[in-house]
Amino acid sequence: MLGEITKVTESVNFIGAFDPQIRTFDIIMKTANGSSYNSYLVRGSEGVAVMDTVKKEFSEDFFNALERLCEYDEIKYIVLHHLEPDHSGALIELMEKAPNAELIISGRAVMMLKGLIKRDIPFEVANTGKIISLGDKTIEFLSTPFLHWPDTMSSYLHEDKILFSGDVFGSHYYDERLFDDKVGDFSYAFKYYYDHIMRPFKQYVRQALKLYAQFDIDIIAPLHGPILRSNPQYYLDKYAQWSSEEKFRKHEFGQKMISVFYMSSYDNTQEMAKKIMEGADLVEGVVASMYDLASLDERNMIDLLEESDAIIVGSPTINGDAVKPAWDLLSCMAYLESGGKIGASFGSYGWTGEAPEMLHDRMRWLKFRLPVSPLKIKLIPTDEELKACVLFGQEVAEITMGKMVEMEI
Ligand code: FEO
Repeated sequence: MLGEITKVTESVNFIGAFDPQIRTFDIIMKTANGSSYNSYLVRGSEGVAVMDTVKKEFSEDFFNALERLCEYDEIKYIVLHHLEPDHSGALIELMEKAPNAELIISGRAVMMLKGLIKRDIPFEVANTGKIISLGDKTIEFLSTPFLHWPDTMSSYLHEDKILFSGDVFGSHYYDERLFDDKVGDFSYAFKYYYDHIMRPFKQYVRQALKLYAQFDIDIIAPLHGPILRSNPQYYLDKYAQWSSEEKFRKHEFGQKMISVFYMSSYDNTQEMAKKIMEGADLVEGVVASMYDLASLDERNMIDLLEESDAIIVGSPTINGDAVKPAWDLLSCMAYLESGGKIGASFGSYGWTGEAPEMLHDRMRWLKFRLPVSPLKIKLIPTDEELKACVLFGQEVAEITMGKMVEMEI
């Protein structure tokens, strides 16, 4: 027997699909609670709009729900807020079943559409301010790019005061009770989703929140997890707090954070790190710290990277490579806004000593500013070489404080 179709309001139904078994999403996310691919059907006096589809494997659930609510020739619009396959998987089949429906995508989605579906299909572009009508229902579009892909947009259903937010405010959290006031505690999943999907694009979150602020929102209908209706402002406030530019308190006094990360086999790279930090600390206004990568977990790496104005990474060279924790540290930049930070690298080595250059190159790709050449020292540093480490740290610090002219190396 088919279950009830969940009503969001009198004119809006949930027609998405549940995926209780998924345990990894987009390679990088663990989904201990499964997930859902949310899709909604909006009925107006002059037709129906389908808001997003589902992952292809779940098309049957989506079409079953849709067919219980409308005829295909009633569908006037198909809105894709985001083209990622977890939301566009049933698009082609839906367009074949509803050939009169107009597909609406964002301007930035145009280039992606063909890459994803490998054929030409007609579409209409929606930018901020575009409005479509279903007779007694009005949907207004908002450009909210990069949340989570460049193509993403949101929309607002005026009469029902529903914000269709795309991936924004999503959670990978399967619970068929579906509404935030009925499901279990999904706070962990909500924050985890923000950290992995939205945090690298904080400035775009802030822009989206400004657009959302012009609307009176009763319900937030995201593309994953619970529908947020008990207190939408609570979730808006959480996003505002997490995406704020606020940093560690010392930034308020104009101080700059320099973090020296290192890993050491025989204390030589560690000795270099100590002297580099000592040099950085000579510069007024700098707060210099050092961290042994052997004992730093990913959560702390991400927070420290975010807070730091300059990042100096040290690794010995082992079998022609930097050590894995140094690569792990830099891979955490995937969770942060890229660009603008100062980077530098160093390390002691026995034979070939490629690690500092390799780390330097990686930081270049990650859009660090790289004003000094990598510093490498063969085996045990001499007193002279340790003095060079002090000068290295001091130079990075002076550039970070704007006291020395910066050259790109
Ligand atoms: Fe839920 Fe970015 O797709």
